[in-house]
Amino acid sequence: RKRTRIHHLAEMKQRGERWAMLTAYDVYSAEIFDEAGIPVLLVGDSAGNNVFGFDNTIPVTVDHLVPLTRAVVQGAPHALVVADLPFGSYHVSVEQAVGTGIRFLKEAGAHAVKLEGGARFAPHVEALSGSGIPVMAHLGFTPQAEHALGGFRIQGRGSSAEQKLVEDALALQEAGAFAVVLEMVPGEVAKRVTAELTIPTVGIGAGPDCDAQVLVWSDMAGMNRGRIPRFVKQYARVGDALLEAAKAYAADVKGGTYPDEAHTYH
Ligand code: KIV
Ligand code: NA
Repeated sequence: RKRTRIHHLAEMKQRGERWAMLTAYDVYSAEIFDEAGIPVLLVGDSAGNNVFGFDNTIPVTVDHLVPLTRAVVQGAPHALVVADLPFGSYHVSVEQAVGTGIRFLKEAGAHAVKLEGGARFAPHVEALSGSGIPVMAHLGFTPQAEHALGGFRIQGRGSSAEQKLVEDALALQEAGAFAVVLEMVPGEVAKRVTAELTIPTVGIGAGPDCDAQVLVWSDMAGMNRGRIPRFVKQYARVGDALLEAAKAYAADVKGGTYPDEAHTYH
């Protein structure tokens, strides 16, 4: 198996072949998802919630995500590793966006970056991809803009909002984006965007008609034992398994049954 490249994703769209993407934030999860054949891993700024315990992604910085990205690249020999550009690391100017993209490739070994936002960021996408930094776009509900969007709400509902979403997607494609995430948009709208674009769409809460899907791994595998959005399907209860393991270990130590003879050096 060779490393996934952006042209493979374009070829999969042409063949009508769907693919799955997951977030990863550390070496073990990256190894496991790479072995499972997940072709694209995202070091999401969802690390804000899922690694650092923040309430949202707004406080996340490049310095938070660079070491996590290094770990994921280290653990995943086959996946295309995409690093999220955090809030404030590309909004100021096109130059700032390129500078941040360069850091993720040079310091973390990322293969691509992702940024949130519509046509206003087309120049940033063009400058990044023109500099050799592939860009995944992100439309619909964009968590970094939570305060401007008025909280967690479906986006692209109604004909003018739908038209705006289609125009944003086309502008980002034109600027050179290699894929676009569609988060929390009606399935019908995601279907239309998927049909109108030549680059793949990656849905999250966007129905079954996108070219690909993405989930936050801690939601997908039940590592997060709190509330999860309605669009998430939970495939395991890793958090419960870890809870049982920690309880059993603590009980063994307390009861004097660990370490036993088999786990002792002489
Ligand atoms: O940060 C993240 O995990 C994301 C995905 C949910 C698309 O941006
Ligand atoms: Na993100």
